[in-house]
Amino acid sequence: MQIHLDQGPVEALECDALVVLTFDGKTNDRFKDALSDVYASGEVTGKMFELTLVHHPAGVKAKRLLVAGAGPRDKFTPAELRRMAGAALRHLKAKSMRSIAMLLDSGLTGAEHVSAAAEGALLGDYEPDRYKSDKKDVKTVDRFTVSVPGGGAGLDAALARGRAVAEAQNLTRELVTEPANKLTPTYLAESARQMAVAQGLECEVLDRDRMQQLGMGSLLGVAMGSAEPPALIVLRYRPAKSNGAAHLGLVGKGVTFDTGGISIKPADGMEKMKYDMAGGAAMIGAMRALAQLKPAIPVTAVIPAVENMPGSRAQRPGDIVTALSGKTIEVINTDAEGRLILADALTYARRLGCTHLVDAATLTGSIVVALGNINVGLFSNDDRMAERVLEASRLAGEKMWRMPLDDDYKEQLKSAFADLANVGGRPGGAITASLFLREFAEQTPWVHLDIAGTAWLDDAKPYMAKGPSGIGVRTFVNLAMNWRD
Ligand code: BES
Ligand code: ZN
Ligand code: ZN
Repeated sequence: MQIHLDQGPVEALECDALVVLTFDGKTNDRFKDALSDVYASGEVTGKMFELTLVHHPAGVKAKRLLVAGAGPRDKFTPAELRRMAGAALRHLKAKSMRSIAMLLDSGLTGAEHVSAAAEGALLGDYEPDRYKSDKKDVKTVDRFTVSVPGGGAGLDAALARGRAVAEAQNLTRELVTEPANKLTPTYLAESARQMAVAQGLECEVLDRDRMQQLGMGSLLGVAMGSAEPPALIVLRYRPAKSNGAAHLGLVGKGVTFDTGGISIKPADGMEKMKYDMAGGAAMIGAMRALAQLKPAIPVTAVIPAVENMPGSRAQRPGDIVTALSGKTIEVINTDAEGRLILADALTYARRLGCTHLVDAATLTGSIVVALGNINVGLFSNDDRMAERVLEASRLAGEKMWRMPLDDDYKEQLKSAFADLANVGGRPGGAITASLFLREFAEQTPWVHLDIAGTAWLDDAKPYMAKGPSGIGVRTFVNLAMNWRD
C-alpha cells in the first residue's frame, strides 16, 4: 500500500472512498450538502468506530464518503485517530476499495495527527496471512492518502515518520507470526542481521561457544533442552555525534517457543507460545525505525534467543546455574525461563555501556490476571526512568500501568542452596519475576515491561487483525527520539 500526503482542496481528491470524521453529537459542516440526508436520518451519532458509507456524494470527486464516528471531541487524541484510521481502512478494504483518503481538518492538522493517521492505516492494512494458499479472497488497498487541505510545513516529514514506525511495527508482527518450526533462534538472528544490513545498523550475533566463554550460564541452561542452538543478538545504532552521556539499552525476550521445558506446559493453547519472542521482535522493529529516524543518543538492542524444550539434555528443576553477573540461581521451575535468559542479557547490555535499560518480555501469566489484555505491566527501579517510558507510551497510544516492586516481596525468591530461586510462588507472580530481573539491572535505571497480556490479540480489533499486536515498538521509538538528559 502506497501512502501519500495531499495538501490540496479535499473536494478535488479522486479516490474510491474519503473518510471524514464526525464527533459525538456534531455534524461535519464541510460536507453539509452531501451528508444532509444521512445526518437527518439519525443514522449518524458520532460514536467511536461507527461507520456510515454514503455513495455518490455531492460536491466532491471521491466516489464515496465514509462518515467515521470519532466519539467526543475532547477525548479524541492522536491515539484515537490512529485507531480510527485503521478501522476505516479495514472497513473499506473489506468492501474492495483500492484508493482511500482520510481528511484531517479543524484542529487535527498537526504533525502528530498526520503521523498517527499514516500509522493507523498501515497497521490496519497488515494481515498475518502469509501461509494461506488461497489468496482469491484477499483484498488489497493500493493507495492511502492523508488529506490536509492547506496544511502547514513539515507534514511530509510527519508522514514519513509515521510510515517508518508502522513498517517497523509490522516487521515485529511478521516475526511474531512466524511459527517456531521456521523461526528458530538462528532464523531470528538472521532476520535481525538482514534488517541491520539493509538499514545500516551494526549487528553481532554471539553463538553458544562465545556465550560459554563469557559465562552466560543462566541463558545457556535454558537452551540445553533444544536441538536448536541459542543466539544472543546485538544491534547497535550510533548517532553521528552524541553530546549527552545516555546510552539506551533495549533488551527483549526471544524465546522462539516455550514448551515450559521439563516443567512442561499443558497442551491446551500451547501453540500460542510461538509469541514468546514478541519482546525481542519489538526491539528488532524499534531498531529498524530508529535506523531511519536517527535519534541523538546511541541505542543498543540485546535479544537473547532460545527455544525452551524438554529434550534429554534439558535442565532439570533443582539445577543450579551461574549467571554472567556471578550470581547463582536455583532453577525451581524450567517454565520460568524468560527471566533466566534476560538476566544474562541485562548484565551484557550493562557491560556494553548502556546507562539506561528497558526490557520487554512475555514474562508471566500473572500479569494477564492482573491487567488483562489492555495494559502492559511496567516495573522499574527508578521513578524518573519509569516516567520517561510512561510518557513515551502515552504519546504512542500504548497503554502501560506501573506496578509495585517492593523489597518485601524478595523473601519469596529465597533459595536454600543458591543466591536466588527462579520462581517466587503464585502470589504476585509478575512482581517476583520483576524483582528477579532487578537483581541483574543492579543500579542502572531500568524499566521492565511485561507484555504477556498485550502482545497477542486473540480476536481482531476494528483497527487491527487478530494475532501479534507489535506492542512496544512505538513506545521505544518515542523514548529514544524524545530523549533529554
Ligand atoms: N512465556 C511464559 C509466560 C506467558 C504466559 C506468556 C501466558 C504469555 C501467556 C513464561 O515463560 C512462563 O511460563 N511463566 C510462568 C512462570 C511461572 C512458572 C512462575 C507463568 O507465568 O506461569
Ligand atoms: Zn515459560
Ligand atoms: Zn516464556
